[in-house]
Amino acid sequence: MESRTLNAEILPENYRFLQEHVHSQVGIVLEDNKHYLFESRLAPIVKQHGLRSINDLCVVLRAKRDIDLDHQVVEAMTTNETYFFRDPAQYEAIRTVLLPRLKEEKRDTRNLRFWSAASSTGQEAYSLAMLLLENGLQEWTMQIFGTDFSDKMVERARSGIYQQIEVNRGLPAAMLVKYFRRCGLDWQLSDAVRRMVRFETIDLRKSMRTLGPFDLVFCRNVMIYFDNDTKRNIMKEIHSTLFRGGWLLLGGAETATSLEERFERLAVGNVTVYVAR
Ligand SMILES: C[S@@+](CC[C@H](N)C(=O)[O-])C[C@H]1O[C@@H](n2cnc3c(N)ncnc32)[C@H](O)[C@@H]1O
Repeated sequence: MESRTLNAEILPENYRFLQEHVHSQVGIVLEDNKHYLFESRLAPIVKQHGLRSINDLCVVLRAKRDIDLDHQVVEAMTTNETYFFRDPAQYEAIRTVLLPRLKEEKRDTRNLRFWSAASSTGQEAYSLAMLLLENGLQEWTMQIFGTDFSDKMVERARSGIYQQIEVNRGLPAAMLVKYFRRCGLDWQLSDAVRRMVRFETIDLRKSMRTLGPFDLVFCRNVMIYFDNDTKRNIMKEIHSTLFRGGWLLLGGAETATSLEERFERLAVGNVTVYVAR
């Protein structure tokens, strides 16, 4: 539960300042009705810095003397929710349709590359790594790239360490036994899985042309936070990183109506896949 421990309403000019701050730093649009979100997410920062209110925090932010604080505020306002095998139907589509196709197409090079864009704490990238190992690709060269805006998330993802509550979400028990080891009260992914994934801090709004080419890109549950221009630019960049025929998977609540000229929409069972033209 997020706490609400502030003793002053956010002044309208400070609310607008915070909206603009978050938008300029990370691209996220927070609408006019997100007072609760600002209050609950920024309360711990206000407290940590010995300030009295979010209005005081805005005074410090406006002075632009503390880059770490700037970053801390932006990170607090991003949503990092993720879990293993989120949207299992998509992993099933990869297993049953994409992997058999790639095994055939890439049988000479035996080299596959994947990208989890906005990877948060890493469960998406590691779920894919385990799926690949479970499907007879051990002898192939496979690289999974995980990227996120947040240094804190990237650091956590690199550690491959998850709490009990996190491995209880979405991860089949057999995979926990097979690919994790105990690490105190937590669980750590095996070196074999961790070696397949590389995490970097990357802002999706920057040019990404040099990252590819990829066979599959996950860009899930992040586009919903951006304005339309930002979404369009990011989609263009992602398209440039995909092999022709490569797959883009978006989050369940995300559609890509403006993508028609670059991607073909393909239905795989109940899953919508965007195939790079
Ligand atoms: C809700 S999580 C999605 C995690 C995972 N893709 C999933 O679907 O489970 C959204 C992530 O997007 C990241 N993010 C937000 N804005 C970003 C940006 N401009 N560039 C890169 N990552 C960003 C956040 O730091 C956060 O970790």
